[in-house]
Formats: sequence, structure tokens, C-alpha cells
Amino acid sequence: MARVFITGSSEGLGLMAGQLLIAQGHGVVLHARNDQRATDTRRASSAAEGIVIGDLQSIAQTRQVAEQVNALGAFDAVIHNAGVGYREPRRLVTEDGLPHVFAVNTLAPYILTALIHPPRRLVYLSSGLHQNGDASLHDLTWEKRPWRGQQAYSDSKFHDVLLAFAIARRWPKVFSNALEPGWVPTRMGGAGAPDDLKAGYQTQVWLAVGNDKQAKVSGEYFYHQKLRSPKAETRDHDRQEKLVEDCHRISGIKLLPAP
Ligand SMILES: NC(=O)c1ccc[n+]([C@@H]2O[C@H](COP(=O)([O-])OP(=O)(O)OC[C@H]3O[C@@H](n4cnc5c(N)ncnc54)[C@H](OP(=O)(O)O)[C@@H]3O)[C@@H](O)[C@H]2O)c1
Repeated sequence: MARVFITGSSEGLGLMAGQLLIAQGHGVVLHARNDQRATDTRRASSAAEGIVIGDLQSIAQTRQVAEQVNALGAFDAVIHNAGVGYREPRRLVTEDGLPHVFAVNTLAPYILTALIHPPRRLVYLSSGLHQNGDASLHDLTWEKRPWRGQQAYSDSKFHDVLLAFAIARRWPKVFSNALEPGWVPTRMGGAGAPDDLKAGYQTQVWLAVGNDKQAKVSGEYFYHQKLRSPKAETRDHDRQEKLVEDCHRISGIKLLPAP
């Protein structure tokens, strides 16, 4: 049985993935943004091994999340699931002076990847909207462009694929993959979302612990347990490295060398 840490697991796909993993007998550590959400998370999933607390829009709190995870020992898989959506009407700014969407969806998975002792498998939640992401990577923090919430979300989900693929190249012993869950009816997706909710979180679980040889690959992109072609620019090594370098510069946190 595996030990799995899932970010943003107080509700939605992260919580459902955690509940499925627990039902399969795996050890699961969940994550909530604050004490109140940790109480909600504990109520929703009392069999979780633990709940780590921290708001991923803050670099300092994201560091603390990584410290809490490392204090709990080794993990077989980490699922970078936490995310915020595309309905932000203006450039909401975090305590670090960054756009909220970039901080939670791009920088936090980078920081956690850099600071958590590398597990055997990494899973990054992207979205079909990553296909619309700005491949130039020229203005990650939206200082030059007029704000467009859906574009900021699409950019961040493009970054998640670049990050998954950058890690796959740097850490050959780790399976690092990205997936899109489909447009599914969570709080983010909305009640009318048409895709198969179960297939969304099952794919996270399959990539984290599955024994099929199709799940034990690296540097791939999935939809409902099937390979899907990501935006072509996600395969570009220079873009992958630029994202890593920019996240390093912005956060001051460097990726660990290959385990
Ligand atoms: N639903 C879809 O149709 C869809 C489609 C494509 C991709 N995705 C991706 O799937 C992932 C999960 O989405 P979902 O639909 O399950 O969304 P959701 O129901 O809104 O859940 C998001 C989770 O992330 C947590 N979170 C957000 N901001 C956080 C922060 N600053 N610090 C700590 N935790 C934070 C939330 O905690 P709180 O509850 O406390 O806010 C919640 O547990 C996301 O990465 C999303 O981009 C979803």
C-alpha cells in the first residue's frame, strides 16, 4: 500500500481522490488552507492519516506545508491538485505581490515540488484549457498585460504541464505526469459540468498508485486514463527550463537535484 499526499483536498477532486485511495487501503495525507477547512476536511474524511495546513497563495505558508509533509516521512506519491479557477474578475494580488491564480496554480506546485522530499510519483492537475495558455511565458505575473481571468487560468494550467515534463526530464527515477480531469461538476466546474466526475479523480488515483504499465510512465499527459496530446509547446525543453528558472527567481527556492 502506498502513502499519498494530495494538495487542495478539503473538497472537490482532491478530496474524492483521497477518499478513493483510503477506500483502497492506502495511507493518505490531505491538505487544507486553514484550521476551519482542516476541520471540514477531517469531517469529510476521518480516515485520513493526517491533514497538513497552509494557504498556497502565500510563499511562506507553502514552505510550511512542505515542512509539515517532510516531517511526516516519505511519500510514494504527491498529487498537485489544489487550484483556483478562471472567474477572477481582476488581478487579485497575494501578500507576495503575485497574481492569486499564478501563486496557487503555478508557483505553489513548483515550491512544493522543490521542497518536499521527492516521491516516486508526481501528478499535476492541468486542464484542457492549457491548450490556450500563453506559450511565450513573457508575462507570468501579469504586469504588462491587461487582466483576463480565463487566460490567466489557461496559462497556469499550461505551466502545470511544463512543470510535470520538466521534472520528468530532471528526475528520471520519478514518474511525473499531468492530466486533465475533464469539465466536471465540482465547485470549480459548476453543477452543470458535463464530464464524468468519477473518471476525473480515478485518473489521479491511477497515476499515483496504479500498477498498470500505462500508469508507470513519465512525462506524459492523460485524460481519463488515456494518453492525450498536450499543447505542442509543453514538449519544448527551453520553455520548461524557463518556467523553472522564473519560478526559482520569483520564489527564491531552487529545485533539488535528481534523487
Ligand atoms: N472541475 C473542473 O471541471 C476542472 C477542470 C479542469 C481542471 N480542474 C483542476 O482540478 C483541480 C481541482 O479542482 P476542483 O474542481 O476539485 O476544484 P474545487 O472543488 O474548487 O477544489 C479546489 C481545492 O483546492 C483548494 N485550494 C484552492 N486554493 C487554495 C489555497 N490558496 N490554499 C490551499 N488550498 C486551496 C480548495 O480549498 P478551499 O475549499 O478551502 O477553497 C479545494 O480543496 C484544480 O487544479 C483544477 O484546476 C478542474
